[in-house]
Amino acid sequence: MNASEQNISGPDFNCLAAPRPEGLRALQANLVDRIKRAAVARLHRSPRGERMLLRMYLIGEDATERALVDELMPQSPPWLDRVVTQHLADEQRHVKLFTEALQATGGKVTTELKPDWLSRQKINHWQRLAHQYAPHFQHGLLVPAYATGLCAEQMAERVLGRHCAVIGADHAMYPLLSGVLADEKAHVRLCKTTLRRIVAPEEVPQLVRLIKEIRRVESSFGISGALVMYVASWILGGLRHSGSHAR
Ligand SMILES: [Fe+2]
Ligand SMILES: [Fe+2]
Repeated sequence: MNASEQNISGPDFNCLAAPRPEGLRALQANLVDRIKRAAVARLHRSPRGERMLLRMYLIGEDATERALVDELMPQSPPWLDRVVTQHLADEQRHVKLFTEALQATGGKVTTELKPDWLSRQKINHWQRLAHQYAPHFQHGLLVPAYATGLCAEQMAERVLGRHCAVIGADHAMYPLLSGVLADEKAHVRLCKTTLRRIVAPEEVPQLVRLIKEIRRVESSFGISGALVMYVASWILGGLRHSGSHAR
C-alpha cells in the first residue's frame, strides 16, 4: 500500500491485502504451492498437458468476463462505468489470447466453457456469501461482487506468478502469461480502490468478515484442487522429460 492509499483508507482496509497465512494455514498454502509447481512442470512435458493449462486459464477468464457482465455491470453506479468497461475489455482480451494460444497448440475451443466441479462449488459458496452480506452495505451486491473479484484477481496473480516462475522467461508461453499477470495485478489495484470508495467506514467490519469468509472458502478447496491438478499432470504430462518443451 502506498502513502496516498494509506491516507485515503486508513488501517481498517488492511483486509484487502493478499493474505499471509500463519501456522497450519501457512503449511497448507506451502504444500498446495509445491504440489501445483510440480503439476505445472509435469503438464508442460506434453502438448496435451499444455493444452489443459491453457484451457484452465481460458475457462477462468471466461468465468471472470461473465461475472463482470452478470454481477458487476448491473450493480455499478454510472461513475464506475469507465473502470468496469476497461476491466471487461481486459478480460475479453485475455479470453481471446488464451483462445488463440489453445488453437495454436491444436486444441479445440468449444462454445461451452464450464468450470470444473470443484470451481463450481467454490463459485456457489461465494454467491451464497454475496447474498448473505449484500444487505449490510449501502451499495448492496456491488460490495460482495468486488470483494469476491478482489480475491479472485489475487488468486490469478498468485497462480500466474507461480506459473511464470516455474517455466522461466525463455519459455514460449512466458510472454502471454506475464502479460496477463501484469493486467491481473492492475485489476487487484482496481478492486482495492473501488472497495475503498464504495464501503462506508461503518461498514468496514462487515467487509472484514466477508473477505475472511471468501478466503476461507477459497483455501478449503486448496488441497483438493492441487491434488486433482497433480493427478491430471501424471495422466497428461506423461513420464517423458521435456527439455524440448522448455522453449
Ligand atoms: Fe483476466
Ligand atoms: Fe482480471
